[in-house]
Amino acid sequence: MNPTGSIRRRMTISLALVAALLSLLSWSMVASFARQAAERTQDNILAASATIIAEAIRSEGGEVRLELPYAAFAMLGAVSEDRVFYQIETAGEILTGYEDLTTGSIAPAAGEVRFETTEYLDVPLRMVRMTRTVLAGEEAVPVTVSLAQTRNGIGTIAGDLSETAAALSVAFFVLAVALTGFVAQLSLRPLNELAQAVARRGPTDLRPVRRQAPSELTPLIGSLNRFMERLAGSLRRSEEFIAEAAHRVRTPLATVRAQAEVALHGAQSHDDKQRLRQMIRAIDESSRSAGQLLDHATVAYRIEDLSRDTINLAELAASVAAALEPTAGLKDIEIRLETSDVATLGDKVLLESALRNVLDNAIKYSPDETQISLTVDQQGDMACLRICDQGPGLAGQSTTDLTKRFARGATVTDVVGSGLGLTIASEVLQAHGGGIELADNPKGQGACAILTLPKA
Ligand SMILES: Nc1ncnc2c1ncn2[C@@H]1O[C@H](COP(=O)(O)OP(=O)(O)OP(=O)(O)O)[C@@H](O)[C@H]1O
Ligand SMILES: [Mg+2]
Repeated sequence: MNPTGSIRRRMTISLALVAALLSLLSWSMVASFARQAAERTQDNILAASATIIAEAIRSEGGEVRLELPYAAFAMLGAVSEDRVFYQIETAGEILTGYEDLTTGSIAPAAGEVRFETTEYLDVPLRMVRMTRTVLAGEEAVPVTVSLAQTRNGIGTIAGDLSETAAALSVAFFVLAVALTGFVAQLSLRPLNELAQAVARRGPTDLRPVRRQAPSELTPLIGSLNRFMERLAGSLRRSEEFIAEAAHRVRTPLATVRAQAEVALHGAQSHDDKQRLRQMIRAIDESSRSAGQLLDHATVAYRIEDLSRDTINLAELAASVAAALEPTAGLKDIEIRLETSDVATLGDKVLLESALRNVLDNAIKYSPDETQISLTVDQQGDMACLRICDQGPGLAGQSTTDLTKRFARGATVTDVVGSGLGLTIASEVLQAHGGGIELADNPKGQGACAILTLPKA
């Protein structure tokens, strides 16, 4: 499967872009506020200084006089090293200061304070102008004070603050990106947990997913559950079909076998007898396969809705052994039971079927006049059923190989079988939370099958 990108990367990139945009915005806002604050400070100081100068204007003998107060300039100097220009003008006449400082600017009306941003001697200036009326003898004379200062200091302060703001914005961005990765991981955790929960399931576990999940995952879980339901339905239908087909094949096969037996009795020539024996064997193989397929389908069907009855394994072993006693008797095989009372929770029909298949193998593959031991005991919290025979052993084949569907071992020789017996047993035990293990008999010749089940 080729993944088309990653949600986590997509989330991280988009959130990082948003963080970058916010950082840029906050930097530009802080820088502009800093510049405005510095400008306002300069304006306030300029206005205060101009007021001090205006207050110092007096009239003496009908003439307007001014002694420039040092304090006014000291205040301006305290803020920065900027150059200061001034001009005091009364009724169109320059009293003192730079004559062409205010060229092109109309004097403000009395009582008005005006700020201007201009240029003087090719240097940008901030200037405050205010007019005060002074009584010179009988006459009221308007005196305009113009005070200007270069703006280098403001530029430096604003630049410094802007640099600090830029550094803070970069730090904010880096932190936001780190947090974004964390948030992306946190948001995707429920999705990963869901994937793990589904991946952990066994191959036949098609139960609906019932775990708690965020609302965004509900549609996904819903579709997953519907899909599994359809899958389970289709599996059930195919099992039913196999069971039905096996059932339909078995009955006519029995008739054909009976006819073939009759024909064999009546056959005269050796060749005819040989052919009929082969025919009967083929019928036996088909009939066994059909029976095992039917059993397997029943097992698959019952496992889906497993009942949990208390089952005494000693009783179960005794009844299965009794049922197979006639088959064992045909080969003079003795089944020795050694059981202690151990119980498990499960489906009796299924457990009988599992044990029957294992015991059937022990009888089928053992030579005549041997013994089979069937032990029931417990180990820790597990119940143990051990079936040991004196047959040919497993010829080095593993449990995994022999429990595969239709797998038959090297020990088969001419024994009739379908290769489904151990598959059935293994599926039944797994569904009950147990398992099956096959090994060569540790006490000599033969094989041992060990069936484990949780104790009730
Ligand atoms: N007790 C045993 N001794 C020796 N070989 C065994 C024993 N039990 C199983 N096997 C080997 O494992 C193989 C798989 O067993 P399984 O019961 O699944 O199939 P089968 O006996 O061949 O067919 P059937 O479905 O009719 O039981 C057998 O073909 C046989 O070779
Ligand atoms: Mg078998």
